[in-house]
Amino acid sequence: MTLGRDILRQADELAAITEAPGRITRSYLTPQHREAGERIRAWMREAGMDADFDALGNVVGRYAGATDDAPLLLTGSHMDSVVDAGRYDGLFGVLSPIACVRELHARGRRLPFAFEVVAFGDEEGVRFGVSMIGSRALAGRFDPAMLDKRDASGVTMRDALVAFGGDPAAIPSLRRGNVVAYVESHIEQGPVLLDAGRPVGVVTSIAGSTRVRVRIDGLAGHAGTVPMGSRQDALAAASEMVLAIERHCSERAGTLVGTVGKLAVVGGGAINVIPGAVEFTVDLRSGDDAKRLAAVADVEAQCRAIAGRRRVKLAWDAFFELSAAPCDRALQSQWARSIAAQGIEPMYLPSGAGHDAMEFAALAPIAMLFVRCGNGGISHHPSETMTAEDADLATRVFLHFLEHFEPPPVRR
Ligand code: GLV
Ligand code: MN
Ligand code: MN
Repeated sequence: MTLGRDILRQADELAAITEAPGRITRSYLTPQHREAGERIRAWMREAGMDADFDALGNVVGRYAGATDDAPLLLTGSHMDSVVDAGRYDGLFGVLSPIACVRELHARGRRLPFAFEVVAFGDEEGVRFGVSMIGSRALAGRFDPAMLDKRDASGVTMRDALVAFGGDPAAIPSLRRGNVVAYVESHIEQGPVLLDAGRPVGVVTSIAGSTRVRVRIDGLAGHAGTVPMGSRQDALAAASEMVLAIERHCSERAGTLVGTVGKLAVVGGGAINVIPGAVEFTVDLRSGDDAKRLAAVADVEAQCRAIAGRRRVKLAWDAFFELSAAPCDRALQSQWARSIAAQGIEPMYLPSGAGHDAMEFAALAPIAMLFVRCGNGGISHHPSETMTAEDADLATRVFLHFLEHFEPPPVRR
């Protein structure tokens, strides 16, 4: 249990590093990112790794392989959080493999491959509106245009990165070569393992997603004088669109989920003014890319029809897209063997949440281990929980996985 208890204690320490006292919010390239990264770097070094920040603010810990030319097994997850987050999303996938290295190092055991644990600076995309910035760079998929993205205060990612001590020019060199696989351990963020009474599970695939920014321009007016029939109320139009999106996804429950997570009257609105402009976001996900793309086209058409009927303008910006990522079958079997070695029957489940692993799917075989999430499976919320027993067990599974790792013979 010591491994699990230590990890939970470290997660508590990191939870106290926040931009908003009383709740956990840690976004990319902030002083809190720096402080959390320094703490993680110290733990990596204590565990026996060479560790430092890279050009994008990721913290990379490297446990060298038995030979200099050994291939690379990558793992990691993110150290940023959503606003008012839980404490294990992302960080468990950093802390658990650090604990594994500490064990291996204490035993003087080197692996036949180099092992890198990465704490990615951004996965959630809270600050600049683009997600998985760190993992994209290591996978060689970083688009330099992202550096021009601005945060809510108008600061570009480029300027924030330079102020953080990063180096935009060095980003292309972060791409990893000779990667034998990318694996990731993560809290499930849902109730499947909890309901099944299993502490851990093997992920079969990760759902793909499309993210859209929508802007509705109607006509502002006096709330007391404009007759109901002649209004071009942007918020009423947006509300109808939100319900249309929900209905569309509910009719396809099981294969599709859709969320409007942000919605605001531009400028904040006023009680006695008809809303003139509204912005909202759409997040659509499916394990089946064709179904997701069809849904995106369908809900856009429905929103355009609503806009036409209500005489408002609609701007639809599908700014982010990530394909579904199947997990490598040979690696799934290796996770299953490591779970069985702890006396637990392996269970398989898909991931509806996005993970850094997805970015690596084009570079190397990927695989994920899920750990039971307590409290009904709630996540992206402060009441996210994990027990020390489960953290311990999942870390033992990871250690077994590392010690018995066989490079997948053929790419999927
Ligand atoms: C990341 O947490 C996501 O699935 O949005
Ligand atoms: Mn998350
Ligand atoms: Mn996560």
